[in-house]
Amino acid sequence: MSAEFKDEFPNEAQAKATSVDDLKAQLGEIVVAARAAVAEATSTDALAETKAELLGRSSHLAALRSAIGSFNTDDRPEAGRACNEATDEITTLMDARHNELAQVERTALLQTERADLTEIIGDLTVGHSHIITQTRRTLEDLFVGMGYTVADGPEIDTEWHNFTALNFPLGHPARDMYDTLYVNWGKAMSTMLRTHTSPVQVRTMTSQPPPIAVVAPGRCFRRDTADATHMPVFHQIEGLLIDRNINLGHLAGTIEAFTTAFFGEGFSSRLRPSYFPFTEPSAEFDIQRPDGSWLELGGCGMVHPNVLEACGIDPEEWTGFAFGFGIDRLAMIRYGVDDLRDLWLGDMRFLRQF
Ligand code: DAH
Repeated sequence: MSAEFKDEFPNEAQAKATSVDDLKAQLGEIVVAARAAVAEATSTDALAETKAELLGRSSHLAALRSAIGSFNTDDRPEAGRACNEATDEITTLMDARHNELAQVERTALLQTERADLTEIIGDLTVGHSHIITQTRRTLEDLFVGMGYTVADGPEIDTEWHNFTALNFPLGHPARDMYDTLYVNWGKAMSTMLRTHTSPVQVRTMTSQPPPIAVVAPGRCFRRDTADATHMPVFHQIEGLLIDRNINLGHLAGTIEAFTTAFFGEGFSSRLRPSYFPFTEPSAEFDIQRPDGSWLELGGCGMVHPNVLEACGIDPEEWTGFAFGFGIDRLAMIRYGVDDLRDLWLGDMRFLRQF
């Protein structure tokens, strides 16, 4: 309440009314003064104070109300009604002003407490997929465009899926080429982190009848020490096509189509004889860069009849080819990265370049 208003009613608690008319006159003045005081309050806190002063126990109005007791009985109802009406009027003014002020205060609070998230996170537009993810998606798109579907398999797999069904019988020396990480589960050496994506070939052939055309990208694991070209966790993409009358020419054509689609028109590919237990014949495939240099990219071959048989497919009726290569290596070639470890460090200064 303003000082001015207080001066107007110096001894509110002692105020007396001599008649109903006098009481009504004083109430009228109180309401007029209240209207000004309420308008003058600029915060809900200030308004609460004004309210106590206008309507509280030691207010002029309260004093007038208690003076009613000294009126004669006939005048009391009218005096009481006049007090109630004045109280209601002031309360209505108060409530309206309170709503106004609360709204202003809420808005101001929202402004000051608004957290500037861009300050915390930085420029929200710079996030993007890791280049291994980008490369995997590009590969998926490319093979889907060639009619393949994307297959998936578990990262922890059985030795049967990872080796035996792929024509590495127990004790086969080629098992030693894979520095396998075994999982302590079931019989010793029965469960492992898959050493390649080739077990997805097995899982696909045992779960759907031919014809089959799938690619299976995913993580693989080997007991390798990290260096510029090796990581114990790495990514491969596997391809498998099974149909009638598939021959090596289909394989070579597929590898060539992939090479130009992924790297560009200036690139070409060749197959070089090699050995894998699960393909016969087997080959490594290399790509030739526009400058004439060759790069070794992956392995491939015609699916070995033993593998088809292990998966319940009749090798007299169906033939097919398979291929597999490292996604990380592709990403390195495509983006000109020379140390594989850089892909794993999570250093934004490096990753932002791609
Ligand atoms: N799984 C082989 C590896 O990790 C790569 C590979 C070679 C996959 C020949 C194939 C293939 O499908 O036909 O070394």
